Amino acid sequence: MTSFAAVDAPETSAQESETPADTGIQSFLITFIIRRFDPEVDEEPRWVDYDVELYATDRVLDALHKIKWEVDGSLTFRRSCAHGICGSDAMRINGRNRLACKTLIKDLDISKPIYVEAIKGLPLEKDLVVDMEPFFASFREVQPFLIANSTPEKGKERVQTIADREIFDDTTKCILCAACTSSCPVFWTDGQYFGPAAIVNAHRFIFDSRDDAGDVRLDILNDKEGVWRCRTTFNCTEACPRGIEVTKAIAEVKQAVLRGKA
Ligand code: SF4
Ligand code: FES
Repeated sequence: MTSFAAVDAPETSAQESETPADTGIQSFLITFIIRRFDPEVDEEPRWVDYDVELYATDRVLDALHKIKWEVDGSLTFRRSCAHGICGSDAMRINGRNRLACKTLIKDLDISKPIYVEAIKGLPLEKDLVVDMEPFFASFREVQPFLIANSTPEKGKERVQTIADREIFDDTTKCILCAACTSSCPVFWTDGQYFGPAAIVNAHRFIFDSRDDAGDVRLDILNDKEGVWRCRTTFNCTEACPRGIEVTKAIAEVKQAVLRGKA
């Protein structure tokens, strides 16, 4: 069963799940050390230990649920889909940005404690929750929507070849989780850099043959806080849970800026 050193466990809740011991499948007692912060109580974040019994096929999100539902309901984190689609549960797990819902326990070294903390570079609100507004402000700034000067013929679609669609296929996969931007050392320094995710989403429209505002976006990104701040550290590519080649997309936007058009 779950145990917790610092806070008394609440009464059993209706959400309490079946314990691993009831199933006959091997389970493991794993220590999670979570960086907690309650702005109403704490002056500084503090690390708190939790021992959680889990299966190898459980995910870090399952551990967070068990802690919240069975041990301390005040643990705060975001999640929605639980299947790697909504992008709401990016966090640092053992020092690496990942989605809690896509990180399997069997892929972590459970002989040591697992450290979990909020992503870096964005204002910490509570526990694992950061203020995403600066991230979304950069995203909005690159105009991440189709801007077309012409109107398609009545009843017709805007036609695009398979080859033209493939040019930006990779960057359509972004789920705006911020794992890339919040793993970028340039973004950490002052938070002014547009960041990889905004550039990925600009790329998605800059190279779309149906769009007519590529030059506007290139102009926006040819800024002192734009693509030239990228130092090609590849942290973003390593962090992306969708496998997007983020650094490559940034390089393609840089080349388009130099060419003067998409
Ligand atoms: S590019 Fe990848 S890591 Fe960055 S916001 Fe999109 S899905 Fe997340
Ligand atoms: S909860 Fe939606 S991506 Fe993890």
